[in-house]
Amino acid sequence: MPNKSHFNKGHITINRLRKEGQAHSAHLTAKPVTQTYHAIFTEDSVPFLKKLPDASVQLILIDPPYNIDLAHWDTYENYLDWAKQWLDQLYRILSDTGSLVIFGGFQYQDLKKGDLLEILHYTRHHTPLRFVNLIIWYYKNGMSAHRFFANRHEEAVWLSKTNKYYFDLDAVRTPFDEQTKKLYQKDKRLNPQSIEKGKNPTNVWEIGRLNGNSTERVGHPTQKPTQLIRRFVRALSYEGSLVLDFFAGSGTTARVCIEENRHSLINDSSPEINNFLKAHLDKMTVKPPHQIFHNPVLENFLELILQ
Ligand SMILES: C[S@@+](CC[C@H](N)C(=O)[O-])C[C@H]1O[C@@H](n2cnc3c(N)ncnc32)[C@H](O)[C@@H]1O
Repeated sequence: MPNKSHFNKGHITINRLRKEGQAHSAHLTAKPVTQTYHAIFTEDSVPFLKKLPDASVQLILIDPPYNIDLAHWDTYENYLDWAKQWLDQLYRILSDTGSLVIFGGFQYQDLKKGDLLEILHYTRHHTPLRFVNLIIWYYKNGMSAHRFFANRHEEAVWLSKTNKYYFDLDAVRTPFDEQTKKLYQKDKRLNPQSIEKGKNPTNVWEIGRLNGNSTERVGHPTQKPTQLIRRFVRALSYEGSLVLDFFAGSGTTARVCIEENRHSLINDSSPEINNFLKAHLDKMTVKPPHQIFHNPVLENFLELILQ
């Protein structure tokens, strides 16, 4: 069976629909929003998730702990037994057009520690979630090594609830460089509009890790770059939709959601998130209208955004 680099049935269908002037059945027209709402909760994720209603979230984006001694919150006896408790909730919470993104790496050593492969294996065999892409986050800056090849990538797995998942490729295309653009513009077989739109960023993303002295840093030990989170938020959610991150860390996802006009539901067991998020907000240069609620009544918050 060829992989999607060689044969892509979906791509052939989309091209046919485009020629016929039709939209894909997953096409959505987002309503413009005048302000966004963001709820910050500070509790354990498992009971938190159980309170969320069915089909209420467009994008779940998480960067879970893997028990790899990075910080004090890595304390599980059997990683997968713990992870199953939250993984089992996610299909239910996602809307039909929704997606789930889980960050991680491949570092499994024993039952106590976990990794993305363990999680992927579980979702594949024990949940109805559908695999869409494995994204390789490639970076040039990292630790050196002597007993193995120095690591320069992490992964994120993208799963969807159904095959009608929302995906806005145009929102995340990368521009062609001027030389390539000129070359392509001379090629009569290519559509000039497509050249202008830019190219598919592919499933290998080169984005620098945050160095210790990065201006984006707010003090969390495993903070992700906004550029990385933004690409998922732009492509897999739409303006006014709801994004959930229940291992929120510093609140990078909330920050990006504010900037990108999405509502967000953020949870982390550590109350330190409040200070981290404040530091994020202080660093933001563009702040579209938004309101933040700390530990609000969940039903009232959801009513506000789902109206
Ligand atoms: C890898 S960090 C997330 C970093 C985040 N992506 C960022 O950019 O700042 C994982 C977070 O999960 C939180 N965490 C660990 N166990 C948790 C639990 N059971 N419930 C809620 N949060 C938890 C930790 O406090 C930590 O901040």
